[in-house]
Amino acid sequence: MKKDFLWGGALSNFQAEGGYLEDGKGLNVYDTLVVTPEKGIEPMFCDTKVATDHYHHYKEDIDLMAEMGFKAYRFSIVWSRIHPLGDDETNEAGLNYYEDMIDYLLSKNIEPVVSLVHFDMPDHLLREYNGFLNKQVIDFYAEHVQSIVTRMKGKVKYWITYNEINLAPYQSDLVAGTYCPKEMSKSELFAHLTINTQIAHGKAVNVIKEVDPAAKVGGMIGHAPFYPLTCKSEDIIAADFKNKMHNYLPFDIMTSGELPVYFKHFVNSRNIKINYNEEEQTIVKKASKQLDYLAFSYYRSNVQSDMNDIENLIAKEDAILFDSRQIKNPYYKANEWGWQIDSEGLRYSLIDLYHRYNKPLFVENGIGIDEKLIDGKVYDDERISYYQQHIASLKTAVEDNGVDLMGYLAWSPIDFLSSHKEIRKRYGFVYVNREFEDLLDLKRYPKKSFYWYQKVIASNGEDLENDIKY
Ligand code: BG6
Repeated sequence: MKKDFLWGGALSNFQAEGGYLEDGKGLNVYDTLVVTPEKGIEPMFCDTKVATDHYHHYKEDIDLMAEMGFKAYRFSIVWSRIHPLGDDETNEAGLNYYEDMIDYLLSKNIEPVVSLVHFDMPDHLLREYNGFLNKQVIDFYAEHVQSIVTRMKGKVKYWITYNEINLAPYQSDLVAGTYCPKEMSKSELFAHLTINTQIAHGKAVNVIKEVDPAAKVGGMIGHAPFYPLTCKSEDIIAADFKNKMHNYLPFDIMTSGELPVYFKHFVNSRNIKINYNEEEQTIVKKASKQLDYLAFSYYRSNVQSDMNDIENLIAKEDAILFDSRQIKNPYYKANEWGWQIDSEGLRYSLIDLYHRYNKPLFVENGIGIDEKLIDGKVYDDERISYYQQHIASLKTAVEDNGVDLMGYLAWSPIDFLSSHKEIRKRYGFVYVNREFEDLLDLKRYPKKSFYWYQKVIASNGEDLENDIKY
């Protein structure tokens, strides 16, 4: 791997921070929403008041990242710490908090990579405006970005405008702060949120480049390739439709500044009246010329089949678009939450996205496991094995397939609450001692994978052996 490859990790602060309403923070959607449990899983939601108390432990957590040898660390600035209501004045205490964090990272030679919105819209913007469905919220977001970038200029080189922007139409409350209005169909919501989140992304890119032309800006999606269930052409057409709408659409728009033909057809064939004026189109076009890289998360691959019991094409496409069956792939095992483990799917995704867009890529990847601390230790060989396979696969993509990859961000340095507010689903290299209800002492314990990843980074990805004495 190239010498300046950005090995590191990523975390979203609202899932780890706690620090509930401290220092002027307002409520955000993750604090207030009743998140739908993952399919087939008993709901075990923790409250978000303490989470894994990263708010008060951030220096200790960054010290552990430095000990692992992190070159880069991606985190998110919680919107409601900077603008507690979203439509109000900037909260200086919030800016100070993240500036201190960035300074601390820089003092440890860790490159900060900052996500500007990550499932953390101020709750007030959902209740009063219905989030990104309302164009006023796009302006609040642009002002929010402006205040952050103005303060952090010169300190942050890498920005991410909007975490997993493609999930906005699916989990609209959490990802876009929007409830689907009663009179609106899901496909209409899909179209409107696609447009509005792209305008938001475009404005953010342009603001960042105006304030700090030296900064690098990336778009970000949650990428999960859909494989056709069989080699029957009906399944291939279904998977192709799903991949375009679910995976490619945001990057197609971000990189070209145009709405792709398949999306225009989707909108026209359903008589959806999108609201996308010339000024907004110019913003999106301008942003497309200034975009530096494409970031994506990869956790799993999926399977898509045709829905041949539905005759009407539009009804069939809509069913495919919102299909939640999670069809099993017989070739791969899954984790306890049914997420298929397919490491070569990462190589496929890297090759596919690089050849489609020809822009540097930045990947996030990891596995959630139900773990117990025993005598101060966590033997997470399952996580090591997951990372071994995925890192081997990305090395092939880079070294043999010529993909331009900026870095690898493991999800995640420390334990936190999953996006469904579960502490049971742990992702960290560091165990945080808390249970569902009992907060215990919140002490940090490096897992076995901590030492393994340290070795991977020190060897620039050459040594993936699991020979750690722990
Ligand atoms: C990421 C999301 O890509 O997926 C995170 O942005 C999330 O917020 C992660 O934690 C894993 O998903 P989950 O639902 O297991 O937390």
